[in-house]
Amino acid sequence: MTNFAYRDDRLFVEGVAVAEIAATVGSPCYIYSKHTLYSAFRSFRDALGPEEGLICYAVKANGNLALLSALAGLGAGFDIVSQGELERVVAAGGDASRVVFSGVGKTEAEMRRALALGIHCFNVESLPELVRLNAIAEAMGLKAPVSLRVNPDVDARTHPYIATGLKENKFGLPIAEAVALYRKAASFRGLRFVGVDCHIGSQLTDLRPFADALDRVLPEVRRLREAGMDLEHIDVGGGLGICYQDETPPSVQAYVGLIKERLAAHGLGAMNILLEPGRALVAASGILVTGIEYVKETPDKRFAIVDAGMNDLIRPALYGAWQRIVPVRKRPDQELLYDVVGPVCESADVLGRGRSLAVKAGDFLAICDAGAYGFSMSSQYNARPRPPEVLVDGERFHVIRDRETYEDLMRGEHIPRS
Ligand code: LLP
Repeated sequence: MTNFAYRDDRLFVEGVAVAEIAATVGSPCYIYSKHTLYSAFRSFRDALGPEEGLICYAVKANGNLALLSALAGLGAGFDIVSQGELERVVAAGGDASRVVFSGVGKTEAEMRRALALGIHCFNVESLPELVRLNAIAEAMGLKAPVSLRVNPDVDARTHPYIATGLKENKFGLPIAEAVALYRKAASFRGLRFVGVDCHIGSQLTDLRPFADALDRVLPEVRRLREAGMDLEHIDVGGGLGICYQDETPPSVQAYVGLIKERLAAHGLGAMNILLEPGRALVAASGILVTGIEYVKETPDKRFAIVDAGMNDLIRPALYGAWQRIVPVRKRPDQELLYDVVGPVCESADVLGRGRSLAVKAGDFLAICDAGAYGFSMSSQYNARPRPPEVLVDGERFHVIRDRETYEDLMRGEHIPRS
């Protein structure tokens, strides 16, 4: 990725040296490249066609207001799973009419707020949810736009924690049940059925499961449309994987091409395509920069003990995920094997095992492809303030979120006086 490159052995993000940012905001810190984000969005836009479809960025991947605002400016819609994400989109200047609301547990308050703002669609995942939404919309004198999320029961061949399209998962409705509900659409007076959606998992590196899901869902969509149901869009969810190590995910063009091809094959070429990419839009835009506090050698291992931990980036600990770790300044010394570990008191607090590095205490490392599910999954575990976020735009950088303070850590807590 040319926006993250070495110049004279020093790592740059676009036109700014990473060491300069770390010297200004401290470490650990997240750094994002605006142009990498832009080009990822453009690849989806180009693949869909300039006026076609809707790209609803999955806010859960990274909800920073500056990134949401940049994407809104490019014409993105948003896929949200909570009122919190909705409020973020609104605060960033996003257009509510381009928002789809996913998730199995929408509360009454969340439905009301989303209805009042006039979102594009609710992706409904169960009958009780449908009944609740219908009642609330009727009471508000509105018709809620609805798409049923179908669970096509396909194996996404990804980590089990992020596979969502098998029938044992909590997500979506079995196809037969969804079809039965669409056929009863007229009995829901507060609803307007506008589409169908499915999302089968995340970090998919093969087109096959997407094709399988479409081939299960689209014949039913066709029958419903033939029966007179005015379904306008098909929402394929997110899930397109990226290359963290040696994976070979399909290109965005191949992925969108497959969707178009399957729609045409099922006689649904005129339907509007809606996508919910998260990782494929933001992962490669971000790095987590961390400083080495100590190098510790034991009879068995050599550890680089860094100032970022599993609270800052949980993917390696939670999923056994592998993310590239590179020096911010390359040294000519011989590389040695290190386990890169954080300060958190858990043996799972490992950011990378057996990494070949030439480093010393005081050096900085960059953990790559950390733009998605990095900051957004961070916590304050071990009473660690969360890191700042920085956005690089050409030769300039902006702090887009301050480092949390110790005051922030204790905000809202009270000691009862008895
Ligand atoms: N739409 C729905 C309904 C989803 O549940 C998700 C992700 C997406 C879209 C976006 O998927 P993406 O394009 O990012 O794969 N924390 C995990 C990933 C969890 C994904 C959850 N749902 C990780 O760090 O790998």
